[in-house]
Amino acid sequence: MEVIQPLAEMTGWSKKTAASGKTIALVPTMGYFHEGHLRLMRMAAAKADTVVVSLFVNAMQFGPQEDLGRYPQDFDRDRELAAKEGVDVLFVPAAEEMYPSGYSTRVRVDEITATLCGRQRPGHFEGVTTVVAKLFHIVKPHKAIFGEKDFQQLSVIRKMVNDLDWDIDIIGHPIVREADGLAMSSRNVYLSPEERQKALSLHRAIEHARSRVDEGLTDGGRLIEEIRDFLLTSAGVSIDYVSIVDNESLADKNIIDKKSVLALAVKVGGTRLIDNCYLYSKT
Ligand code: PAJ
Repeated sequence: MEVIQPLAEMTGWSKKTAASGKTIALVPTMGYFHEGHLRLMRMAAAKADTVVVSLFVNAMQFGPQEDLGRYPQDFDRDRELAAKEGVDVLFVPAAEEMYPSGYSTRVRVDEITATLCGRQRPGHFEGVTTVVAKLFHIVKPHKAIFGEKDFQQLSVIRKMVNDLDWDIDIIGHPIVREADGLAMSSRNVYLSPEERQKALSLHRAIEHARSRVDEGLTDGGRLIEEIRDFLLTSAGVSIDYVSIVDNESLADKNIIDKKSVLALAVKVGGTRLIDNCYLYSKT
């Protein structure tokens, strides 16, 4: 596995690879790999001839009160894990080269960023779309893999690529969970053992919602109330949002149907956790 830092070297590698007739799949990450990241890498390897994983903790997508300063990092471990997955290039751009002094361009997707996490975290998605746009231009992938755990992020990236007519196939990967149901996240390391237990209420809420819909419940407002009550019974859990939205427009849905996604964000102690699910089977 090659580790590449200079942007020009990365672009050179990609041009050479594409010229030799090989396809490239990109997996953008902020590092501190867990099994979720590794599964995205495996999916990338199954979908393209070569795999580039980018590792860049993107300051632009963190709010001033957020966890940029303590975001977990372990480069040596990440490099070993990526190499074991057979990744071709680990791309680790330097912040000074990504955003040199005087940098002043942003990529912003409107409307679908005004709800859910976008409403709670002003500027967050603008930071995500700006860095992902830059990564796409530097790496020039044919395909890019994103996790459905960050459901709104995936929708926003799809919208950007579609609106700007970029010829990149955006592929979603299902949520990867711990054995007890907690969605994997680099931020789970912030949880104390007691908070780790409380965090399970997210997945339990999702299971409750799915079983209510299986029983025939179609009233979105009522389900939201039930889920809020359910989450609030767990002491130490506060709700950021509980929403049922259309899987494409992300508009609120009152009647549950095949396109309805339940999206949850809670705080457990100081840690913000998100989760989501389709309320009907996707097939
Ligand atoms: P990061 O949080 O490191 O996540 C990198 C990718 O892994 C994202 O596509 C995310 O959705 C996916 N992922 C994380 N946990 C997952 C899980 N439990 N199951 C499935 N996929 C999971 O998301 C980012 O970084 C950044 O915003 C980024 C896109 C790299 C832009 O900076």
